[in-house]
Amino acid sequence: MYFLNVLASLISVASLAEHASATLRITADHHSWGGVNYPSLQSLEPKERNEVIRAIVKSNARVIRLFIQGDEKYPDPEPEIGVFDRSMLDRFDDTLAAIHRISKGKVKVIVAPHNAHALRGSNNVPCDAYCKKIDGAFLDFYSNLDIRETYRTRLDVFFKHYPSKNFGGKPWSTLNEVILGVDVQNEPWSGIFPIVAGEPWLCDIATHLKDTIGLGKHNIAVITGGISGSQSPDGFENFPDCAFDCPAVDVISVHGYYTAKEDATAGTPWANMFLPGNTLTARALGKKLLLVEELAYVHNKMGLAYKKGAIWDQGNALNFRGIPWIYSHLTTKDEGTSSRVSILRSPIFAIGALADALKRAYTSRSNFDWSKYLAGPPALTNATELPLNPFTPEQSYCTFGCHGYLCDSPDGCAPDLMCKNSVCQAPAEKQPGKMGDECNSKAICQSHLRCEDGLCQQCLPRASKAPKRKRKSIFQADPNEQCELDTANPFRMRNICTLTPRGSPCQSAMHCSADEFCDWGVCKICTEGCLGMKCKSSNKCKTGYCNSYGRCDYPGQKKKGFGPGARARGRSPSNRGPKGQEGGPNKVWDVPVRVSIPSDGPIATGQAT
Ligand SMILES: *[C@@H]1O[C@H](CO)[C@@H](O)[C@H](O)[C@H]1NC(C)=O
Repeated sequence: MYFLNVLASLISVASLAEHASATLRITADHHSWGGVNYPSLQSLEPKERNEVIRAIVKSNARVIRLFIQGDEKYPDPEPEIGVFDRSMLDRFDDTLAAIHRISKGKVKVIVAPHNAHALRGSNNVPCDAYCKKIDGAFLDFYSNLDIRETYRTRLDVFFKHYPSKNFGGKPWSTLNEVILGVDVQNEPWSGIFPIVAGEPWLCDIATHLKDTIGLGKHNIAVITGGISGSQSPDGFENFPDCAFDCPAVDVISVHGYYTAKEDATAGTPWANMFLPGNTLTARALGKKLLLVEELAYVHNKMGLAYKKGAIWDQGNALNFRGIPWIYSHLTTKDEGTSSRVSILRSPIFAIGALADALKRAYTSRSNFDWSKYLAGPPALTNATELPLNPFTPEQSYCTFGCHGYLCDSPDGCAPDLMCKNSVCQAPAEKQPGKMGDECNSKAICQSHLRCEDGLCQQCLPRASKAPKRKRKSIFQADPNEQCELDTANPFRMRNICTLTPRGSPCQSAMHCSADEFCDWGVCKICTEGCLGMKCKSSNKCKTGYCNSYGRCDYPGQKKKGFGPGARARGRSPSNRGPKGQEGGPNKVWDVPVRVSIPSDGPIATGQAT
C-alpha cells in the first residue's frame, strides 16, 4: 500500500539523471527470443491446430516446443519398442509444415523426441513402451546399454529414416528451416539429482544426435532438455559438468517453476540465476547457449489475480538478462489454477501478459549468439530503462521497488533497500553506508542517502503529484509532470532520497554490482579482472577470486561437493546402429513395422493400436 503510488513515480525521475552506477543492462548486438511449449499440438485436428498456430504467431513467439509422446487421443509413434507408426510421424510432420507455412518461416520448433515422464507414466504422460520394458526400474533407461541402443533407433527413425511427407521426403535432421533444436529427451533423470550411473548417457545420446544423425551438419541444436527435472533456484541440477563437458551439447536448457514470494517476484530467481558474469553465465559464454526451456505460473495463496503479473515478471527478468525462454505451457482448454495459458482467449486473460512479454523478448538483446539457429528481429531494443509490470493488479501491495523487485538504478528501490545486481535487496549486515550507519568524508553513504550529523539519514521516497491517477496513465504520462519537486512541501520531517548519481560505498567487490569493482571504498564500473572474465591468477581478479573454471568470481561460491564429476564420454565410435540394419528412408512403413534390434529381443509382433 505504502509504495503503490509513491514509488511508482520515482521511476520516471530516475530516468532524468544519468547514473554513473551499474545497470547491468545488456548492450550486445545479439538477439534473445521467447517461445511456448505446446505438448500435444499435433493431436489437434488440423482446423483447430492451424487456428492455434495463427494465434501463436500473432503472440510474437518465435519457437514452439513440441513433444513426441502419447496422449489421451493418440499413442506414442513407437507403440512397442522398435515398432513405428508412420501415421503418427505424418501427423507430427503436418504440424511442422503448418507452423512453417503459417508463420512464413518465422517460427521454429524444438522437438522433445521422448519424455522421461513417459517412463513412469507421471505428469499425465501415458506409460509408453519403454516404461513397460523397464517396469519401474527408471534408471535402467539410462544405464542399460540394450535399452540405450533401442532409444538410438527411435532417434534414427524419427530424424534420419522417416521421409518428410511435407518437406519433399527429406529427413527431419536436415530441416533447419523449421527445426531449431532437438532435446536429448525431455527432463532426463527427472527428479533424480545428482545423476550418477547413467551420466555417460547424456553425451552418448547428444553425440549420436549431433554427429551420427547429423543435426550438427545442418545447424540444428542439440539441447539437454532439462537434466534432472526442475531447477532449484540455488542448485545446479540442470547444468551439471557432464553437460558443459560434452562437445555435442549446443544448448543447456533450464526448467524452473517459481512462484512470487514475500521477498521475491516470480522473476527474481531468474534474474539471480543469469546474472551476467556469474559462475553459470561466464562459464557458458562462447561455449554453450543457455535457454529457459520451461517456465510457468505457479499458483499461490495470493490468487489468480496475480497470474498475469507473475508470467510477465518472469519473461521480463529473462528479457533483461538476455536469456531466451519458453513458456510452459499453452492449451485450448481451461486454465483453472494451473500454469496453463489458453491461447485462444482474449488478451484480458493470461495470454495478454504472455504475449506482451513475448513481444518484448522478440527485440531483447543477449550476450549469447543465437543467429545460427534463429534469425534476429529487424531491430533490437534501445530501451534504457527496465519496464514496470503493466499487469500488477490494483490490489497489489507493491508496484515496484519492494524486496526482490527488479531495479536498474540506486533509487529504484524503497529507501531501506539497495539495488544490487538488478534486484532490490536488504543490505547485508557488513554492507557499508546503510541508513543509520556512521559516515564522514571518507565513509560515504549509499547513493540515495545523505550524510548529516555523522549518520546516513533516513529518507522519503518522492511523492507523486497525482497519486489518484489510474496506473495506466502513470506509465504513459510525461515524466516531468509526475513527481513533486523537493521544494513542493518545505515542511518535512525528512529529506527526499537523493538522485545524485555516484558509486556505492564498499569494502570489497561483494558489496558492488556484478559489473563493478571496489575502488578505494567506492563501487566503480569494472573493465578488467572483473566478474566473469578469464583470470590469469587470483591476484588479477578484482573480485578477489578465480573459480575452478578459470573465471573471476565472487569469493565464497558454493563448492560442488558431490556428483560424479566424471567426464562424459566424448565423441565415440560411430558403429552405433543395430547390426544389419539398413539405412535409408524405407525404414518407416505405412503400417507399424518392427525394426530389427538384435541385442534386445522383441517380445511380440508389432501392431498399432
Ligand atoms: C536502436 O538504435 C540503432 C542505432 O541507432 C537503430 O539502428 C535501431 O533501429 C534502433 N532500434 C530500435 C528498435 O529503434
